[in-house]
Amino acid sequence: MIVVTGANGKLGRMVVEKLLDRLPASQIGVSVRDPQKAQALQERGVRVRQGSFDDPASLDQAFEGVSQLLLVSIDNIGEVALRQHRQAIEAAKRAGASRIFYTSHMGSSPNSAFLPMLDHAATEAALQEAGIAYTSLRNGFYASTTVMLVNQALQTGVLAAPEDGPVSWTAHEDLAEITAVALSEGIFNGITPPLTASEALDLDGVAAFASEILERPIRRVVVPEAEFQASLTGHGVPEAVADMLLGMYRASKKGEFARVDPTLERVLDRPATSLREVLKAALLPGQ
Ligand SMILES: NC(=O)c1ccc[n+]([C@@H]2O[C@H](COP(=O)([O-])OP(=O)(O)OC[C@H]3O[C@@H](n4cnc5c(N)ncnc54)[C@H](OP(=O)(O)O)[C@@H]3O)[C@@H](O)[C@H]2O)c1
Repeated sequence: MIVVTGANGKLGRMVVEKLLDRLPASQIGVSVRDPQKAQALQERGVRVRQGSFDDPASLDQAFEGVSQLLLVSIDNIGEVALRQHRQAIEAAKRAGASRIFYTSHMGSSPNSAFLPMLDHAATEAALQEAGIAYTSLRNGFYASTTVMLVNQALQTGVLAAPEDGPVSWTAHEDLAEITAVALSEGIFNGITPPLTASEALDLDGVAAFASEILERPIRRVVVPEAEFQASLTGHGVPEAVADMLLGMYRASKKGEFARVDPTLERVLDRPATSLREVLKAALLPGQ
């Protein structure tokens, strides 16, 4: 049985949907913190079990009979993330999984300026140390990040952020599909190439697309780092989070997310979803 963690989250749920297109529901299980939220999956024949990375005993139940585990990285950073990912890896081993798939990031590195990349690198090292077969899916930077930035810019017409660099923004939908292919066809071993869309764009490019789609100007303005940080903390964002966000711009400026790789399009056998398409669907829903 393939077991997917984080299946009430955005990526995990999409992966389950893509798996259901390929496999009988009886071969799919989910490990979720709140089974109520996964009731619709249960009604379709997916095995739903409660599992939290905070509670190893719950994972023993949730991973029972697992052959391949998809470990969706948690929405937290630092020690907490690494500890919880380790708990999940250990539980998968106890349950007899033959392979763990992990949702890593194209920028995974112990030297990145963006903190979550350090956690991905540390989790990849933990997988290596665990002595179990693994596939680390080096996902492209979520295109949904630009939707958030453009939505913040809608009121003022200004996309204000520190200096940045090109990023190969990639759609959740495409990442979910390639993950389902990897899980059902076993096409990757170890660390994958970056799984990205086909174009890298900086925020100038994002603002230009947004202006075109909305038919009104969204102006990209470069804000000094200290001003950006002060504005965030002034709006109640904790300092550590402001530092982390600043790290994202520093890393993109250094080109950490600039690589474009053909693997995703080759495996999906179609063009990747473009950033323009993602922005259009989010900014003009139903059109
Ligand atoms: N590639 C990128 O650019 C990029 C960008 C941002 C984030 N990410 C990473 O990709 C992951 C998946 O993305 P997403 O859009 O699906 O995020 P999401 O919707 O926030 O999903 C995160 C999932 O992690 C689960 N989770 C959190 N703590 C957990 C715990 N202690 N035990 C078990 N599950 C736990 C959550 O469970 P509940 O549903 O119960 O809350 C949720 O389902 C993120 O969590 C993050 O690590 C990648």
